[in-house]
Amino acid sequence: MAGIVIVGAQWGDEGKGKVVDLLAERAEAVVRFQGGNNAGHTIIRDGETFKFHLIPSGILYPGRKCVIGNGCVIDPKVLTDEIDGLKARGIDVSGLRISANAHVIMPYHMLLDHAGEARLGKLQIGTTRRGIGPCYADKASRLGIRVQDLLDEKILKKKITAAIEPKRLALRPFAKDPSLDLHSMAEEYLTYGHRIEQFIADTSSLVWDLLDTGKNVIFEGAQGVLLDIDHGTYPFVTSSNPVAGAATTGSGVGPRDIDEVWGVAKAYVTRVGAGPFPTELDDDLGAELRERGGEFGTTTGRPRRTGWLDLVALKYAARINTLTSLAITKLDVLSGFDRLHVCTRYRGEEGAIFDRFPYHQSVLHHATAEYEELPGWKEDISLARSESDLPATAREYLQYVSDFVGIPVAIVGVGPGREQIIWTSSSQSSLAAPTAA
Ligand code: GDP
Ligand code: IMO
Ligand code: MG
Repeated sequence: MAGIVIVGAQWGDEGKGKVVDLLAERAEAVVRFQGGNNAGHTIIRDGETFKFHLIPSGILYPGRKCVIGNGCVIDPKVLTDEIDGLKARGIDVSGLRISANAHVIMPYHMLLDHAGEARLGKLQIGTTRRGIGPCYADKASRLGIRVQDLLDEKILKKKITAAIEPKRLALRPFAKDPSLDLHSMAEEYLTYGHRIEQFIADTSSLVWDLLDTGKNVIFEGAQGVLLDIDHGTYPFVTSSNPVAGAATTGSGVGPRDIDEVWGVAKAYVTRVGAGPFPTELDDDLGAELRERGGEFGTTTGRPRRTGWLDLVALKYAARINTLTSLAITKLDVLSGFDRLHVCTRYRGEEGAIFDRFPYHQSVLHHATAEYEELPGWKEDISLARSESDLPATAREYLQYVSDFVGIPVAIVGVGPGREQIIWTSSSQSSLAAPTAA
C-alpha cells in the first residue's frame, strides 16, 4: 500500500493540479484534506482546460474515488456548480465522496471575510474573500455547520441560529442589513444538502479500506507550506495547514499511512496576496516572468507577484513536510534568460546571515535575498520528454536545486499540458512511470 501526499512547497499555485492528475493514473483515490474553494487547480488534458476549486484533481479518470475530506471547508454553491460543470462536459463524477464532517462555508462567512479585509485596510491579507478564514474560525469556536447538518432541517436551523447572532454584531458597522435571514438561508442550504446527499459518506472508512487492501491513495494539498497557518508567513497565510502532516488529521488516517511526500515547486516563485517575499522581482524582469508564465490567479484572476527561486524557503519546505520527492514545474518559463538567480541565503536588517528560514516575522519582513548566479539556456524545452532532451545548463539548474535541498527531483514540468513532463532517473516513487522504474 502507499499513501502519497502531494503538497505545495511555496506560496501555492505551484502546479499541484497537474502533478496530481499525472500521478492519479496509478492511484485508486485522491483525497483533498484541507482548504476550500480558495484553491484553484488547473489541469490541461488534450488541449482542454479544467479548473478545480473543490473537487480533487483525479476526477478526470472515470470512477476514480475523489474524496473531499473532513479537513476541508466547502461552499456548497461552488461545489454543485463544479459538479454540474463537469457533468455538462461529459465527465463522470460518480466517484466523488464528501466527508459528512467537512465544514460548510455560509453566506455570513463570505461577508465577514470581506468585512475583515475592509477593516484591515492597508494591512489586509489579500484573501480570496471566499469565507475561508471565518469558516475555520467557526470550526474552532465550535459554531460551525457541517455537511451532515445540511440533511436535517431542525438541526441546521438550530445551528445557524447559534452561529448567526455574533455575526450580526460583527457585520453591523459594514452593512445595516447584512441579509442574514435564518429561514431563506436554511432553505437554500437544505436544497444544497439534498443535491449532494448521494456523495456524502464516511470518507475516513473509505480511505482506510483502500489503504488496508494495498491500494495507492493520493492526498492532494491545496495552497502551500508558506501559507500554512502555523508554519507560514503569519498573518499573511490561509486559515488551514497545507503542510503534509495535515493530510492525516484532514482525512482521518495516521502518520504510518503515509509512505511518500511530494513537494511541488515552480522553477521560480510566485505569490498572490500580501506578505513577505524575499526574492520578489518588483521590476521588468518580474513582469516578464509573469507574462511568460501566465501568472494570473486561477481563482481570483489577480496578477501573481513573481521572483527567483528561493532555496532557503524550499529547504524549509523539504524539512517541514519530510519530502521524499520534488516536482519542479514551469522550467520552460525560464528559457531565454541569460543568467538565472537562486536565493541561497537571506541577509537580515543588521547584516546577519540566515541559512534557515527565519521563524521571526520581523526578521523575515526585512530579509533580503542573496543569490547564486547560474547560467541560463536559450532553447525552447517544451518538447523535451527526457532529461537528455534538456540543455546541459537546464540539467545543471535542476541538479543545483536538488543538491541544495537534498531531495531528488522526480519530475520536471516543461509546459502546461499533461504530456509536457519529464520523469527523471532519480524518481523512486511507487507511482513512477514504467519507463523510469
Ligand atoms: P495549483 O494551484 O498548484 O494546482 O496551480 P495552478 O493551477 O493555480 O497554477 C499553475 C499554472 O501553471 C496552471 O495554469 C497550469 O496549467 C500551469 N502549469 C503547470 N505546470 C506547468 C509547466 O510545467 N509549465 C508551464 N508553462 N505551465 C505549467
Ligand atoms: P492553490 O491551492 C495561492 C492565498 C490568498 C491570500 C492568503 C489567504 O490554488 O495553490 P484565504 O482566502 O485562503 O484566506 O487567503 O492565501 N491563497 C492562495 N494563494 N494559491 C492558493 O491555492 C491560495 N489559496 C489561498 O491569496 O494571500
Ligand atoms: Mg492554484
